[in-house]
Amino acid sequence: MRESIRADITGHQSRYLSELFSFLSYPSISTDPKYRSSVNDCAQFLKAQCQEIGLSNTQVIPTKGHPILFAQSEPDPNKKTLLIYGHYDVQPVDPLDQWDADPFDPVLKDGYMVARGAADDKGQVYAHLKAIESLQRVSGELPVNIKVLVEGEEEIGSPHLYGFLREYQDQCQADAILVSDTPFYSRTCPSICISLRGMLYVEVTMTGPSADLHSGQHGGAVANPIQGLAALISQLKDDRSRIQIPGFYDAVTPIGASLQALLDALPDNDAVYADSVGVSELYGEQGYGANAQKWFRPTLDCNGITGGYTGEGAKTIIPATASAKLSMRLVDGQDPDEIFASLTQYCQAHCPKGLNVKIKRHAGSKAYMADPDAPVIQMGKRALEAAFEYPAKLVGEGGSIPIVSELSSQLNAAVVLMGFNLPDDQIHAPNERFLVDHYYKGILATSLLMTALGGPK
Ligand code: BES
Ligand code: MN
Ligand code: MN
Repeated sequence: MRESIRADITGHQSRYLSELFSFLSYPSISTDPKYRSSVNDCAQFLKAQCQEIGLSNTQVIPTKGHPILFAQSEPDPNKKTLLIYGHYDVQPVDPLDQWDADPFDPVLKDGYMVARGAADDKGQVYAHLKAIESLQRVSGELPVNIKVLVEGEEEIGSPHLYGFLREYQDQCQADAILVSDTPFYSRTCPSICISLRGMLYVEVTMTGPSADLHSGQHGGAVANPIQGLAALISQLKDDRSRIQIPGFYDAVTPIGASLQALLDALPDNDAVYADSVGVSELYGEQGYGANAQKWFRPTLDCNGITGGYTGEGAKTIIPATASAKLSMRLVDGQDPDEIFASLTQYCQAHCPKGLNVKIKRHAGSKAYMADPDAPVIQMGKRALEAAFEYPAKLVGEGGSIPIVSELSSQLNAAVVLMGFNLPDDQIHAPNERFLVDHYYKGILATSLLMTALGGPK
């Protein structure tokens, strides 16, 4: 079976690649309203591709934001059902001048395809579709019922997918859920991810005088919003990464024996990791290695800060306002709503005299923690090993895929996070890339997982 699917993929590889290149050419940037129609066109392209491979009930479902693509194979009551989830939206491309080529005109370079979305997540979503195509051709039918759910708002926190899931719960019902949107542990170590951190994203705005003031005429007598904001931000975390928001750690449990065993089974690579990100020393809470810190501990980071004069030369002002964007990565048990309330209170209480602070909430989602013994996780591990010919490991990840914990609980089905990209594929950054070989092997791994899951219910 494996060899006949492999041969089929090889026999169709140039078309499989050129179709993916077409998918990659849509600038489906969800966060920027300028690209609204491109996001929509991209969903329509996917719909046509789903019809092309014989899926039925293909729909582009509008939402108040970007549309959701749904498709399914002709249901057979004697087969299990696999729901495939992914996203066709991508991150903005700036800084554009750091790209070697047009982000939406994919090119091949050193075995990689380079384009925005190649690794996150279009290449992986398309690998799933091509697995359906190859598997059907090779075995004459699909071993499982397939449902395809691809959204256009993952990169902005999936605001409309929660409501969609409640409304279309029956239509989405499945025995297992496949998501390919996470990286390998390393080039020679494919991995199944068993935990994702959740997220709370906020914007903190500090205001002071009603307009910018001359810093000589008024300086010393009026509080400065930038300095007030900087002081507030510095009180959110101590110098060892311990977050100071009251109650922040209340629901956080210590790393248990099974997660510790998972950490211990991975080579200690803190020095290599520090080097790979270009820092001389790692940072964090006492007693945690980089993997533990990134996967199983919550954190808070300032993502950007603006205010005052930043142009050429000097301009002497006390600015009227300053603002910062903060992201918090949450772990299993933490509730973004409760943390938002506590953060708001803490910021109000620590707002310097003479200034006002406002907190605006953006994305929020809970962390996801799998049962590593779920059969589909073990099947995914074996599928990766067979397709990539390296032993696979279970890992955690620090990034967020907002809907995953909701998918699993709403549909009461196990999720397998089986991704094919590499940690240095530069997702969200210039020259994002995806190994062409991983695209083809990802198609094979997906086919093998579907085959393993198949059989009588
Ligand atoms: N595919 C990523 C999530 C990811 C990245 C998982 C790296 C594991 C390792 C996803 O597309 C993503 O970027 N998520 C955002 C969500 C946010 C905007 C709500 C994230 O984690 O920042
Ligand atoms: Mn992604
Ligand atoms: Mn992403």
